[in-house]
This record gives sequence, C-alpha cells and structure tokens, in this order.
Amino acid sequence: MLTVRSAEIDDAPGIAKVHVETWRTAYTGIIPQDYIDSMTVENRTLVWARLLQRSGGAFTTLVSEDHDQRIVGFVSGGPLRHKDPRYQAEVSSLYVQRSHQRNKHGQRLFLAAANRLAGFGLRGLFVWVLTDNPARRFYEELGGEQIAETTRLFAGKPLTEVGYGWKDTPRYG
Ligand SMILES: CC(C)(COP(=O)(O)OP(=O)(O)OC[C@H]1O[C@@H](n2cnc3c(N)ncnc32)[C@H](O)[C@@H]1OP(=O)(O)O)[C@@H](O)C(=O)NCCC(=O)NCCS
Repeated sequence: MLTVRSAEIDDAPGIAKVHVETWRTAYTGIIPQDYIDSMTVENRTLVWARLLQRSGGAFTTLVSEDHDQRIVGFVSGGPLRHKDPRYQAEVSSLYVQRSHQRNKHGQRLFLAAANRLAGFGLRGLFVWVLTDNPARRFYEELGGEQIAETTRLFAGKPLTEVGYGWKDTPRYG
C-alpha cells in the first residue's frame, strides 16, 4: 500500500536523505561530480526544514512512504517560476529512491501534486528535465508535451533542460 501525504517540518531529514541518494544514483555522469558531492544529507536537511517552515500559499510538498512509514519519495511544486501564459503551476522536484523506482510512487506523487496545485486555482502544469535524463520518458507517459528548452550552469558546466507542459492538469487515467 503506497501512502502519499503532505510533508511536515519533521520530514526534512527523510526528504533530504532521498534527495541526496537519488541525486547520487541518477545524476552521476550527467551533472558534474563536484556539484553532486557538495550535497549532503545535513545541508539538505537544513534547506528542506527552511522550505517546509516557510511553506504557505500554493507551495506544496508531498511525500510517499513504504509499508514501514519510511519516506521513499517526494515531490514539490508551486506557482510557475518563469513567465508563460499557458501554465501557472510547476513541479520543481520529484525524486523516488532507486530501490523503490518503477513501483508507481513517482506517478502517484506527480498526479497528487498536480491535483493539489489545481486546487489552489493554478491552471496547467510545467516541469523542467535535464535533456540527458531518462526520466523524460516518465513525463511523456503522463502526456507532457515538450514545449521549451533552456541551458543552465551546474558547477560551471552548461546543461540543457527540456520543458514539458500540460495545458490541462494531468489526472489519474
Ligand atoms: C523519474 C522518477 C521520479 C519516476 O518515478 P518512479 O516511481 O520510478 O516511476 P513510476 O513507477 O511512477 O513510472 C511510471 C511510468 O513512467 C515510465 N518511466 C518511469 N521511469 C522511467 C525511466 N527511468 N525510463 C523510462 N521510462 C520510465 C514508465 O513507463 C513507467 O511505467 P512502467 O514502470 O510500468 O513501465 C524516478 O525514477 C526518479 O526519482 N528518478 C531519478 C530522479 C529524477 O530524474 N527525477 C526527475 C527530475 S525532473
């Protein structure tokens, strides 16, 4: 039984653990190693505690738990961070621990966040994904349309990201 629930401040260490572990397993070879190594569970816990404390308005973080109530995935999002009249909501992070991937945690988290953001009156949904990330297939399976491209610096290395958009909030099929 997969449980998806709203994150609370006490979840910061559990979220940070998944965040750091997943970066190491998913982004090694894609993002410069210096950048990955600079992320630790300790520094991410502080960042997540601050973010969760400040959460308000449409900022949303949800966690997914296994049978033992351990956090194995999380999603966060809020209003779109750049200007595009077609989309009002954005998912800014989505991570599932490697040992629990391909068990639909990602799909449930993503759709629950989409639903929550729509509940705040935000229409449409947008997400950035690194061009070299196989997770692009995940968003394509959910009906995301490739509608933007940008380049960002990670530890001085320019990396291309693809933007996927949903004009209507994606829902459980
Ligand atoms: C991307 C991610 C969140 C997906 O979560 P998940 O729980 O593993 O995915 P789901 O089980 O919900 O997948 C649903 C469908 O999406 C597709 N999919 C998911 N991951 C995929 C991958 N790596 N490659 C190809 N297709 C994929 C499949 O069609 C899958 O259905 P199937 O397993 O029945 O074939 C997770 O793999 C992850 O955390 N990856 C590393 C970090 C990352 O890239 N995050 C996204 C940043 S934008």
